[in-house]
Amino acid sequence: MQAAEAAFRREHPGYADTTVLDQLRRTDFARLDRHGHVYLDYTGGGLFASSQLSEHLELLESTVFGNPHSANPTSAASTELMDGARARVLEFFRASPDEYVAIFTPNATGALRLVGEAYPFHPGDRFLLTFDNHNSVNGIREFARARGAETTYIPSVAPELRVAEELLGRYLDDTPGDHHNLFAYPAQSNFSGVQHPLEWIERAHARGWDVLLDAAAFVPTNRLDLGRWHPDFVALSFYKMFGWPTGVGCLIARRDALARLERPWFSGGTIVAAFVQREYYQSAPGAAHFEDGTVNYLCLPAVEIGLRYLDRVAIDTIHARVGALGAWLIDALLALRHDDGSPAAIIYGPPAWKQRGATVAFNFLHPDGRVVDERYVDRVAAAHNVSLRTGCFCNPGAGEIAFTIARETLVGGEFGEGMSLDDYVRAIGLPSGGAVRASLGIASSFADLYRFNTFAAEFVDLVAVPDDLQPRTAC
Ligand SMILES: Cc1ncc(COP(=O)(O)O)c(C=O)c1O
Repeated sequence: MQAAEAAFRREHPGYADTTVLDQLRRTDFARLDRHGHVYLDYTGGGLFASSQLSEHLELLESTVFGNPHSANPTSAASTELMDGARARVLEFFRASPDEYVAIFTPNATGALRLVGEAYPFHPGDRFLLTFDNHNSVNGIREFARARGAETTYIPSVAPELRVAEELLGRYLDDTPGDHHNLFAYPAQSNFSGVQHPLEWIERAHARGWDVLLDAAAFVPTNRLDLGRWHPDFVALSFYKMFGWPTGVGCLIARRDALARLERPWFSGGTIVAAFVQREYYQSAPGAAHFEDGTVNYLCLPAVEIGLRYLDRVAIDTIHARVGALGAWLIDALLALRHDDGSPAAIIYGPPAWKQRGATVAFNFLHPDGRVVDERYVDRVAAAHNVSLRTGCFCNPGAGEIAFTIARETLVGGEFGEGMSLDDYVRAIGLPSGGAVRASLGIASSFADLYRFNTFAAEFVDLVAVPDDLQPRTAC
């Protein structure tokens, strides 16, 4: 491995500036090597540093925190920490508090739902989104439909899985008169790693669209500067950025865009007053109007701790690290060959390190070109203690384009009652249940990739997989 690492370092001289992460791997992330893990699912969930946990625990043990919905001393202590976390979120993303509000949610999905259910869709309005979207964005089309708005998808183009720029212009120009129109896209694809241009935000604004940016897969390894870019709504989950806490996400919303939302209900925490004999309520101002019930107040301080940790390490260092490792990973997959010279892997998405993040979707191939069943990949990965993701990663649109599944195929093949996912995969003629995804993050190292390569070598000259694979239960 030493020779391979030396060659890698020569090829990526900037990697030397990220050695702080090797030190942290030995301390804050020591549990990975203690248990021999190769963790390659950062887009699924980030890893926390041990010091984040101890700092959080110390804080919780050092005082008493109560439910923030009161004025008593323990409540005031929680409110102070919540306000601190809120301010820190805006500061981390360089968002002016005059322009933006940070609303705490259970996760990115909760943030997306807040926008979807309250966006003032009416008949004649448009909801425009890229094929390449997480299902938690796709689901907003159901709110749009219920309110009579029209949903339009912008396709990506294989094999790079990017959106054709001129196509986007055409879709954005197609706005009927004075309407509420919402455009939603991911800053980074959780399927292919494609980074869709942030310049689209201004382009859409210039044509009167509101912009919902799904930043969940982007922000763990990239700087999102809301002083430079001004999307109306940004959704993210903190566990993807720094592992702990789970169960807390955020909607960062422009104040003017937030004022246009129409919440469909009220609840504890979101109002100043409500009455029973008179069916009237007065909404709470700002973020509180969007935070249903009691927020996760004991975990919110961990958000501030996590953001401070990322600031200390520097997001640019993480970005440089995963860039170098990601480029090596892609090259290694593309170089993987069977004895007859045929490719042993196929990548879905950009093969070059340009406008992409460290999330790589691929499949292993048999020598005759068939896709290796992803369930067997899971089995071999487990034997190597490698954590990868397989399936469609909750991003069916990117998968439909990557695997060239036509609309007619999907319309013709209904998911019938009692059908299993395996039956469905067979019915629509898919070669496998999806793809394999490797994603990198804060604690990734060259040694991880070297072990990944040893695992990948198991697929060279693999002619068939065993016939005892477990049935698929979800995509
Ligand atoms: C791009 C993207 N958006 C949204 C989500 C949903 O995040 P959560 O499950 O934390 O709500 C994910 C999760 O993987 C994601 O990758």
